[in-house]
Amino acid sequence: MDSMEKLVSLTKRRGFVFPSSEIYGGLNGCWDYGPLGVALKRNVKQAWWEDMITRHDETETGAGSPSAYAMVGLDSALLMNPRVWEASGHVSGFSDPMVDCRETRNRYRADQFIVFALVFETQEGVRETVADMLFGSPGEFGKTPLEELVAPHRKRVRAIQKSRRAGEALSIDVIANALENDELRARTLAPGAAEPGTLTAPRAFNLMFKTYIGALEDSSSVAYLRPETAQGIFVNFKNVLDTTRVKLPFGIGQIGKAFRNEINPRNFTFRSREFEQMEMEFFCRAADAPAWYAYWRERRYRWYVSLGIRPENLVLREHEDSELAHYAAACADVEYRFPFGQSELEGIANRADFDLRQHMQMTGKDLRYFDDQAAMEEERRYLPHVIEPAAGADRATLAFLCDAYTEDEVGNEARTVMKLHPRLAPVKAAVFPLVRKEGMPDRARAIYRALRRKLDAAYDEKGAIGRRYRRQDEAGTPYCVTIDGQTLTDDTVTVRERDSCAQRRVGAGQLADYLADCIEG
Ligand code: GAP
Repeated sequence: MDSMEKLVSLTKRRGFVFPSSEIYGGLNGCWDYGPLGVALKRNVKQAWWEDMITRHDETETGAGSPSAYAMVGLDSALLMNPRVWEASGHVSGFSDPMVDCRETRNRYRADQFIVFALVFETQEGVRETVADMLFGSPGEFGKTPLEELVAPHRKRVRAIQKSRRAGEALSIDVIANALENDELRARTLAPGAAEPGTLTAPRAFNLMFKTYIGALEDSSSVAYLRPETAQGIFVNFKNVLDTTRVKLPFGIGQIGKAFRNEINPRNFTFRSREFEQMEMEFFCRAADAPAWYAYWRERRYRWYVSLGIRPENLVLREHEDSELAHYAAACADVEYRFPFGQSELEGIANRADFDLRQHMQMTGKDLRYFDDQAAMEEERRYLPHVIEPAAGADRATLAFLCDAYTEDEVGNEARTVMKLHPRLAPVKAAVFPLVRKEGMPDRARAIYRALRRKLDAAYDEKGAIGRRYRRQDEAGTPYCVTIDGQTLTDDTVTVRERDSCAQRRVGAGQLADYLADCIEG
């Protein structure tokens, strides 16, 4: 799909996603999932939990034998001792550079704010970069197309064209780090501002939401809504070791809410202030960390493909050395080609022993692993290294929605169909009586009630059968089951497959098993 508009409208119309507290005008960066959306996101999280934790050794082979490691789950509290965030570096370092416009009162992320000059060709055929007037525009890492950057400045661009006797702008020159430079900043025209020079110098803005615990609101009662689920895993590392029989290598996974006071929430649910993460910390020996890093980056890429994302829309991008956090030995992103640009779904990082070491230093608690297999006495106690695949449930859900959105034709009739993978589809099967007479609704309701014990099913008897199919196509329902005249004589039903619209007759008694096989693939 090439624009988000149609998807956003479908998700609203069909009850996937609503703006948060909409009747009060909404709340920027917050979203609610409606009846179809909650089921879809729950299925995304369920697929992650099964494929990463409970059935992790069923689906994959690769470097290292998946059956040779244990995976366990965790659900830690959203609120944690604030010293956790000092140890992790979030209190001092989890910030984005921010600039404010004094005139419009808009706030921007300085690293996503593009300052540019237009390149014109004058009537004399000379290429001229008009750098005496700089334009600013919020855009993510230069991904914003030229027309979009220029659009808000039409009037001023026309004035320049007139004064220079120039034609249409040919291209743009991006001026690197312009906001750091007082002189360039003073010449930059911010979006919506009347005159240049209204932007403040960039300053660090901590993204953690602060709150207070208990009755007193002072520095001793400060707490933070967690900005990631990962630290909950690190601080429970020893608890898990002491209460289970896991041995290195092993992983601890967690799914849960995280909060970030993003300066510019944008692109629908992509950058939200409240979102859910699906994170796993995989603990291993230092010497094995590079191989496990390679294993997890491939495996996590394949997870999205296994759930229906087209490989041509998915990129596994290794970070440049300059992008790496100081403690990270390596990092790669799984990125999706969204209509608004290629952007991160998940990061896979080799974090070495940074986090455990920080928590050990801060608390004075010995978090070292005791390796009874080590040959030498002095090699028995050490801090494991960690590979962290950190995914976003909301971003994954958005990517699955984007990839599923399809407009095609069935019998010369246009339809919109969400080609969601059956494991993710909110409703797996919809049951219809062909008509509301001759006992068909009674039989259909009985079949529906039996089916919903096994899988997520829906029942619909209203309207023409074609319209009922279209509604389920938009909801992404992979199978529609129709009860017709023949059902009443031989107890078979028609199963219609969403993408091909192919139909086949199946005995009502075998229906649940037949659908379960189709869904599992
Ligand atoms: N523990 C590492 C960590 O949190 P991250 O790259 O900051 O790494 C991991 O976050 C994932 O969480 C991202 O790849 C993304 O899918 C999701 N995520 C991060 N910030 C988000 C936001 N503001 N809105 C939605 N999802 C977000």
